[in-house]
Amino acid sequence: MARFALVSNRLLSRPHPRCLGLLRIANGNGDGVSNSNSKANARLFATESAQRPSQSSPSPPLDNRVKLVEVGPRDGLQNEKTIIPLATKINLIERLARTGLSTIEAGSFVSPKWVPQMDNSREILEHILRRDIASPTPLTFSFLAPNLKGLNNANAILEKHPNAFETQATRLANPSASSHKPTVEIAVFAAATEAFSQKNLNCDIATSLKWFGEVIQAAKQRGLRVRAYISVVLGCPFEGHDVNPHRVAEIATEMLEMGADEIALGDTTGMGTAPRTKELLNCLRSAGIRNEDISMHFHDTYGQALVNTAVALEHGIRTFDSSVGGLGGCPYSPGATGNVATENMVYFLESLGMDTGVDLDAVSDIGAWITKELGKPNDSSVGKAVIGARSMTEQDVKA
Ligand code: HMG
Ligand code: MG
Repeated sequence: MARFALVSNRLLSRPHPRCLGLLRIANGNGDGVSNSNSKANARLFATESAQRPSQSSPSPPLDNRVKLVEVGPRDGLQNEKTIIPLATKINLIERLARTGLSTIEAGSFVSPKWVPQMDNSREILEHILRRDIASPTPLTFSFLAPNLKGLNNANAILEKHPNAFETQATRLANPSASSHKPTVEIAVFAAATEAFSQKNLNCDIATSLKWFGEVIQAAKQRGLRVRAYISVVLGCPFEGHDVNPHRVAEIATEMLEMGADEIALGDTTGMGTAPRTKELLNCLRSAGIRNEDISMHFHDTYGQALVNTAVALEHGIRTFDSSVGGLGGCPYSPGATGNVATENMVYFLESLGMDTGVDLDAVSDIGAWITKELGKPNDSSVGKAVIGARSMTEQDVKA
């Protein structure tokens, strides 16, 4: 019998019986468990896998906890044409940190000629290291770095504040230590198609993988965890729907072997559908890539992100990216809109009995605030509904 999670947000009721298939998986009796250990570990050098139990040791039970990676301050803002004041970005990050979100993608050490909006990522990292950002949970801040220049720019700031942050290495060395210091991690970003790689990184996939190998190696020497994106895995704006899942698996394997700790599968264009999400994940499983090394990064351009999330959950994936207010888009993916909204993800996941640890009310307020600051519509249907329901209750109280 499934154990029901404590639903953390007051708006949510008990799961609908039709969700029991997902709940069974959420509580460790589904596909995800048997398959997470079934294949050889593709990764040779990553810090994290070296610390994990061997194939013969019992694996930790898969529970109903889902990790949401908030990408709003990076993916959500990078496409904005008007430069957003640093104070607004910092306010956004600090507010998100108070909601229970444990990982926030805060900036990007890329060429300012390519993505001017991310130019003040140095100041953001500096602020994070100088200030003790309040949070109910230990925080990880992630920054993109496509090459050694980007990593060196990030490192220059880290070196100025050597005692202000944790790394994956320090956390693993002392897992029980309670530290209020944030962990810093790095993200590289490959593409599944040559055309997107050229548009986004001005080089072919092979060259980009060479850069990422250098970045991963240098980041590991510093003890930093590395997330490795693969963009356009379910559709490319230049090459169309039929992105080869085997190519995605090859690139993922290569980056895991370089030492990446996580593969973030980017549906950059939102062209992904449920059957193709399933096909992709099955292909990665056949290639020996474990569910716990995969996260899903769905943009919601065609409104399929939650359906695809359900497919990935059924498959056993437990890490998902989202962006408050549904902000976002990639400057090199014409027409692609925002990431799936964090508010929608929290509501959806918790309605299935999953536990995100995120305060839905608080994140809905942030979505309303930041979209207003940017002069954009709030793209989170759940965020608008939460605020609407609350204002009706307030009117009732006054009446
Ligand atoms: P390039 O023009 O071929 O590079 O760009 P270059 O080596 O000729 O350098 C050009 C200039 O940039 C030089 O400066 C370099 O020093 C400088 P100059 O001599 O002209 O003054 N430069 C840098 N400056 C700061 N930081 C750096 C850096 N590297 C070089 N790291 C490059 C190649 C990779 C730099 C460029 O193409 C680039 O920055 N691309 C990034 C594009 C980007 O950020 N895209 C959005 C993120 S990916 C995304 O959103 C997808 C994702 O969300 C997942 C999904 O949805 O699928 C992650
Ligand atoms: Mg993206």
